[in-house]
Amino acid sequence: MPRFRAARIPFTRTRPTGKRSLRRRTFLTLGCTAMAAGASWGTNWLVVYTGRDRSNVGTLGFRTSLRIPELLAPRASAGGRRWYELTLAAGQTGLLPGKKTETWGANGSYLAPTLRVRDGDAVDIAVRNDLPQPTTLHWHGMHLPASMDGGPHQMIPPGETWRPRWTVHQPAATLWYHPHPHGSTGAHVYRGVAGLIIVDDEHTAGSGLPHEYGVDDVPLIIQDKNFHDDGSLDFTETTFSEDIAAADNLGVLGDTILVNGTYDPQFAVTTERVRFRLLNGSNARVYELGFPDGRSFHLVATENGLLPRPQELKRLPLAPGERAEIVLAFKPGDEAVLRSFRPDLGAGFPTRRFSGGDDTFDIIALRAARTLKPSPPLPTRFTGAPPAIKVPDSPRIRTFELIGTRINGRSMDMNRVDEVIPAGATEIWEIKRGDGLVHAFHVHGATFNVLEVNGEQPPPQMRGPKDTVFPPRDGTIRVAIRFDTLTDERVPYMYHCHVLRHEDDGMMGQFLVVEPGREEQVPRNLRTDESVHH
Ligand code: C2O
Ligand code: CU
Ligand code: CU
Repeated sequence: MPRFRAARIPFTRTRPTGKRSLRRRTFLTLGCTAMAAGASWGTNWLVVYTGRDRSNVGTLGFRTSLRIPELLAPRASAGGRRWYELTLAAGQTGLLPGKKTETWGANGSYLAPTLRVRDGDAVDIAVRNDLPQPTTLHWHGMHLPASMDGGPHQMIPPGETWRPRWTVHQPAATLWYHPHPHGSTGAHVYRGVAGLIIVDDEHTAGSGLPHEYGVDDVPLIIQDKNFHDDGSLDFTETTFSEDIAAADNLGVLGDTILVNGTYDPQFAVTTERVRFRLLNGSNARVYELGFPDGRSFHLVATENGLLPRPQELKRLPLAPGERAEIVLAFKPGDEAVLRSFRPDLGAGFPTRRFSGGDDTFDIIALRAARTLKPSPPLPTRFTGAPPAIKVPDSPRIRTFELIGTRINGRSMDMNRVDEVIPAGATEIWEIKRGDGLVHAFHVHGATFNVLEVNGEQPPPQMRGPKDTVFPPRDGTIRVAIRFDTLTDERVPYMYHCHVLRHEDDGMMGQFLVVEPGREEQVPRNLRTDESVHH
């Protein structure tokens, strides 16, 4: 018989207006065992369940102009080399009208500037940590040496500066960067440290896609937060599921949506077509993006680059860590509201509701001017799309089973190497979601193509180059994954669940990429004291 652990139950009250309060006001602490659970458990549970579908639809006025993260100008640049400076610091940000929130950011108090680099550039970044805690900065989606990756082995103590440098060698894509200190990634990202990296390549200018930053090429960093009445961030986590005895904590699921740190946002459209670069920068929430008027849009890129051709879609699921680029056409005077509909989480009753599966949120209003600047027509194919990853005849197959907060039954150990991969290899990875909890599988330093979802062709949103994927319940995703030729026998890359509470609770593993033939020789045990200051 399972033993229930003490559960903190978020409890929702009804507002005088009859509208359901979006905020959880009271917490009941129930310490109960299965035997003592009894009737009060059932009654409280029902109240909690009923109050836990959340929506902001009808409550927004779309009154605030969307903030566009500034493009970070290099401190110097010469001959394809660029020097950047990022300073992580705490500050105060006016996120909600009339309120100040204690937040963290890079080169500002919330979020971080956008880095725009080109395939072939040599980048050199000074990352100074002025935060009160040690942290790291990880370049999510970038193919770079493991020691520059900014994972949990590259900690930056407060007051110190870390200087990663690498040469960009990958196709145009929308990447991002965020802290990755083991055990605290969720809190550091939630406080606000996250930014975009736009990679351009030789095809960017001629791709036929809008590419004027902030005008017709617009980042949308979508995050959900909870706020206390005084404007401070609420870190209360969701701990409730059908599987109470197991690891059921999804972390923070917010009821307030911010886009680029803007509450109640609108964007003024001035061109016939706009490319939006979407990042799900939330700790745990899965979005199901679309438009209430049923209009369609074109998906043109996923995490690691362009699709071969645009895909017309009406709905786009986006799990934590995933990115997508979409192109939307506008008529003069048009208004479109981007909404997140109920996502299909593949979770059963009642986990679905407690994981956000019944939630609906308006994200942003897109308002077109009376006259719009003409945009070139959307191309029917993209010459810059990375070619499909070729699978060798008898590929190495590795399987990763996601259950609770473990991968293949194991919890993250900073000293343990879980996999050793020959440099340049193309392998098949099978990602199995073994439970009804939400998981998003992410691999550092490599790009994959989804081959199959439960033996079938993947849905359109999984047909591009990816680094993060959301597996269906009890489903298996087979991907072809190609590793770079950058080797390091001491410093690992990570693979993990991008639900940040799960990652922090140990749902992460480590792999080395080594010279082919060295797989059996390299030690599987890392001494972290050596690799920390690598
Ligand atoms: Cu976006 Cu390992 O993380
Ligand atoms: Cu990453
Ligand atoms: Cu997970």
